[in-house]
Amino acid sequence: MPDQDRIRQVAQRLARARAVTVLTGAGISADSGVPTFRGADGLWRNYRAEDLASPEAFERNPRLVWEWYNWRRELIATKSPNPAHYALVQLEQRVGRFWLITQNVDGLHRAAGSQNLSEIHGNIWKVRCTACGRVDEDHTVPLALLPHCPRCQGLLRPHIVWFGESLAPEDLERSHEALRSSEVLLIIGTSGVVYPAASFAPIAKAAGAFVVEVNLDATPHTDLVDVSLQGRAKDTVPKLLA
Ligand code: OAD
Repeated sequence: MPDQDRIRQVAQRLARARAVTVLTGAGISADSGVPTFRGADGLWRNYRAEDLASPEAFERNPRLVWEWYNWRRELIATKSPNPAHYALVQLEQRVGRFWLITQNVDGLHRAAGSQNLSEIHGNIWKVRCTACGRVDEDHTVPLALLPHCPRCQGLLRPHIVWFGESLAPEDLERSHEALRSSEVLLIIGTSGVVYPAASFAPIAKAAGAFVVEVNLDATPHTDLVDVSLQGRAKDTVPKLLA
């Protein structure tokens, strides 16, 4: 089927759906200029995300990990939502039951105006005390290193779910509930290799959802989905609402 027809098919499904879930990854923010994790621009000083985004890396060298997050915070602070983020806000306003699950920590969905969402990997603008657990929002860029808790002086860390850590149980429950009760699951700009988000497409598919993927490339989900649309999120997602 030509691309135009497949886009029309998805647009019709979305127009009829009463329950829609969307899963996003770094690809949607790539169109705002935020580097993806596994793309060629994802490296920082030759480290991969997996080398820095873990409790072990933070224990070994908190300064190095914070330097990476300062770099990302500085970069993200200059970025704004793009037409794909705004199209999802429009979709949320149109659909009765809508849930957005994002792996992105950049806060761009919230900045665009999305409200029904879980930031399952946390948020780069939040810091958490490793001693007392207090979470604060802090938009300072760069943060003076190393940052400490205003209450107990414990070391602060980014409020982000790292490799080897579990998602907040309420986020996982909310996501599963949305995936199991949705008529359409739209997956945008994720490589589909990081769990548990990588299991969301099969969960929704098994529950009977019509599953659509928007990505520049093929992914491990491509064979499972009902429609795979290859293209940039900022060009493709707005067309799905037309
Ligand atoms: P990845 O960097 O693994 O994958 C980005 C995906 O977006 C790839 O499949 C690209 O093909 C696709 N892509 C790139 N540009 C695009 C565009 N303009 N339009 C559409 N698609 C595009 O990012 P994630 O899948 O989000 O975890 O990575 C998952 C998690 O791994 C992240 O949340 C992060 C990372 O480690 C934490 O920070 C905890």
